[in-house]
Amino acid sequence: MIPSAEEKRARYAAAREQLTALWAGETDTIARMAAAACILHEAMPHAIWTGFYRVAGSGLVIGPYQGSPGCSRIAWGRGVCGTAWASGETQVVADVHEFPGHIACDSRAESEIVVPVRDRRGTVIAVFDVDSAEKGAFDEVDREELEAIFATFQGRGE
Ligand code: SME
Repeated sequence: MIPSAEEKRARYAAAREQLTALWAGETDTIARMAAAACILHEAMPHAIWTGFYRVAGSGLVIGPYQGSPGCSRIAWGRGVCGTAWASGETQVVADVHEFPGHIACDSRAESEIVVPVRDRRGTVIAVFDVDSAEKGAFDEVDREELEAIFATFQGRGE
């Protein structure tokens, strides 16, 4: 079930409040990622996979997540995640079958959003990926809310 725009806003607002509290007491990056994967997965009934791929050398390596087993490594520029990393831009994909090079870790995935996560200096250190079993599950509301949430990751914007 894809929530209405109003319900998405309310769910993200509640998630953001919880995350602000959890992040305030924790500086470790992986712990902060674990909190975000957990809180945001619960906040999005339209998600089947919610979590991080971390920049590690020349590729992405899986980080904290909720959902079915994810692929462990993704190369720069590959798939939706690698594209978000390479471009530094959020990717909103209404139909993953239309995205050239989409990596299908879970055959149920139909749509996806991937948001770059930056450190204080603005360098992309990870991407935050959410997959849905429904087409068109993510839109500008998700983009805006998730970008706002990750603008404060690692104390950015606080
Ligand atoms: N679909 C992603 C790969 C990661 S998973 O779906 C968990 C991509 O194309 O980058």
